[in-house]
Amino acid sequence: MTLSLKKEKSAELTYLSGFGNHHHSEALPGALPVGQNSPQKAPYDLYAEQLNGSSFLAARHENLRSWLYRIKPSVVHGKYEPYSLDNFLSRPFDKSNLSPEQLRWDPLPETNETLTFLEGIVTVAGNGSDSSVRGSAIHLYSFSRAMGNQYFTNSDGELLIVPQAGDLHIKSEFGSLVLGPWEIAVIPRGIKFAIDPINNKSGDITRGYILENYGPPLKLPHLGPIGSNGLANPRDFLAPSAAFTDEEGHFELITKFEGKFFKSALKHNPCDVVAWHGNYYPYKYDTRYFCVINSVSFDHPDPSIFTVLTSPSELPGVSNIDFVIFPPRWLVAENSFRPPYYHRNLMSEYMGLIAGVYDAKQGGKGGFVPGGGSLHNCMIAHGPDGDTFEKASETNLTPVKLENTLAFMFESSLVYVPTKAALDAAFVQGNYQNCWANLKSRFKK
Ligand SMILES: [Fe+2]
Repeated sequence: MTLSLKKEKSAELTYLSGFGNHHHSEALPGALPVGQNSPQKAPYDLYAEQLNGSSFLAARHENLRSWLYRIKPSVVHGKYEPYSLDNFLSRPFDKSNLSPEQLRWDPLPETNETLTFLEGIVTVAGNGSDSSVRGSAIHLYSFSRAMGNQYFTNSDGELLIVPQAGDLHIKSEFGSLVLGPWEIAVIPRGIKFAIDPINNKSGDITRGYILENYGPPLKLPHLGPIGSNGLANPRDFLAPSAAFTDEEGHFELITKFEGKFFKSALKHNPCDVVAWHGNYYPYKYDTRYFCVINSVSFDHPDPSIFTVLTSPSELPGVSNIDFVIFPPRWLVAENSFRPPYYHRNLMSEYMGLIAGVYDAKQGGKGGFVPGGGSLHNCMIAHGPDGDTFEKASETNLTPVKLENTLAFMFESSLVYVPTKAALDAAFVQGNYQNCWANLKSRFKK
């Protein structure tokens, strides 16, 4: 695939490049104060507001904060009133129907209702407890309507958005991001934003996956002996440039707080930040820039070799969440069974498919399709289906390129508890285990 080095997705947007960089951006010249030369009033008589994404005492290299220079401070809003989003669920997750069974789902069916991004979110599974900064939830989204004057902010966690079909316009306090399939975006905790579909014609599908991370913010994994380059490189992460709307009217802010939703009225557009600087902001990444590292001799590395982002836990080496992708790549290993091996492991794995065919699930016609998902929880056996094993164990091991395919995993050290809605859904596959039923004994004495 030929990729343009030009980072702008659209002519109207410019992005700031680099993961975790301390960016600075102003939509009007001179809107960012320089030093403390004008301590009493910010330029343009803007309000200064700090947004902290880490505790104040976090080590310097983990301290996350941005300064926003805005037309009105965030504290100007109406009273919080209860609001409901019936399918957007949160911790604690009800374990009464939990079983170790492997699960797989077809894509979220389209609905005749015209839903907004928030209304179109359906929670599939989650873990963690209210008492700790730990765990995550997995949601699907499918929607067709813009959010209008409604904006959203989440106190409970950051959102990793993985589009599968349709482009998105993410309007945030920090500026805009345009996002499409094969890209991902992260919206940190507490940032105000709205998501609208782009060029949504009748019949278009806008859908994808969301990981809501309750734990420490996602960051790039350490590379160890890989060295200073490879996997997701910092320069390919893009943040929005400052952009503001100076508009009064009727606006609504939906706040997710401890799993409950609240609405509050605003008399101004909350995307009123004229300038900002700091290292806490929304960002996006194009997975087509991922530098794949893999075996060039024999055997099969663990899926951790494909980690894009990780959220650590309090235990060294045990992630709260790993976000892992399986992108297009050459398979060249010799004397090796090339699709992923059969395994049972500590981490619980939710897998989704953005495009193409996943190399371990080629059989079973239509079993694991783009937009679908599977769940293999802690120590529960899984691996290639019977048809794939038959084919892969007989094939000629010449170099093969996997093209036009992108699968991913949300991998957690906590067990994912499926929601009742996901277990009872019409799109859950009741016959998933059948894909392994034809694995006969091949033992020869
Ligand atoms: Fe696995």
